Amino acid sequence: MTNAQATDTYPGELADVPGWFPPLDQMLFTWFLERQQKQGMSGDLLELGVYMGKSAILLGHHLQGGEKFTVCDLFEGDAPDEANKAESTKSYASLTQQAFERNYLSFHDTLPTVIAAPSSVVSEKVAPDSCRFVHVDASHLYEHVYGDIGAAQDILLPEGIVVLDDFRSEHTPGVSVAAWEAVLNRGLRPVCLSTQKLYGTWGDPEPLQEELLDMLRQRTDVGLSVQEAAGHRLVRARSRGMKPPPFPPSRHYTAPVPASAPAAGVTESRAARPARPAPPGPAGSPRTCCPPWSPGPYGGHARSGPDPGVS
Ligand SMILES: C[S@@+](CC[C@H](N)C(=O)[O-])C[C@H]1O[C@@H](n2cnc3c(N)ncnc32)[C@H](O)[C@@H]1O
Repeated sequence: MTNAQATDTYPGELADVPGWFPPLDQMLFTWFLERQQKQGMSGDLLELGVYMGKSAILLGHHLQGGEKFTVCDLFEGDAPDEANKAESTKSYASLTQQAFERNYLSFHDTLPTVIAAPSSVVSEKVAPDSCRFVHVDASHLYEHVYGDIGAAQDILLPEGIVVLDDFRSEHTPGVSVAAWEAVLNRGLRPVCLSTQKLYGTWGDPEPLQEELLDMLRQRTDVGLSVQEAAGHRLVRARSRGMKPPPFPPSRHYTAPVPASAPAAGVTESRAARPARPAPPGPAGSPRTCCPPWSPGPYGGHARSGPDPGVS
């Protein structure tokens, strides 16, 4: 099993930040947050489980004036029980609060309010009815997710959006139980299902679903299906080779140097020879050439970092 990659390199782009945040979910987060903004909705943002900051960095980009962004993670702290400890040791062993903050500040001028503690404390720290968007992505064990969903329900504004990560992954059955239990017994209404996340609301999902369907039907990079189950309309979206939505580069970004034009008189075969890659810079230096993480399916990069056992 692998753990997080070395984290001593500043990210140049969101794709450089290790984590689990596929292009489809980047697009959906962006759509939900921008829709709220267009509708004049104001409210705070909350993320439970930040890891290296990949989804938090995108969330922070949508913070409007007067709103507050709070994140909660164990970081290097003790997990509240043995199962949660095992989960964290297995999948997030090299996470540090410092690495999260360094990544976040590469894209933003100020940090969110950081709660370095188990997510069970969040109800004491974040006011009820204060948030427009909550991302639940901390422990993936049933008891914790059950509690996090309850906290999200209290903390969200009536038409707010909650996103539950890994609600149907093979390795996280506890999230599935907690998610569908919330739908069947706790009043959560699904708005849409991506491959990895359930988007829901305790408000009215129908106007949202109509607008979402309009948007998704226009895209050629989304596979779509709509089904009914137990009185709920389930809008299911999957990526068809989707690219991540545009996102501003970090303050450490350095554009790749374009290959120089062939000098007059140089033969074509010589001009076409690929440039020699630059040597790697010292740890912590801004990236100038090659991305430090290997290419993969998520945002042009693999789930760079931790073992995908739990995400
Ligand atoms: C899957 S990762 C989050 C991924 C991140 N949202 C992203 O997009 O890359 C889960 C995170 O939850 C944290 N975590 C695990 N158990 C927790 C708990 N009980 N309370 C708070 N955070 C917890 C872990 O330290 C880890 O950083």
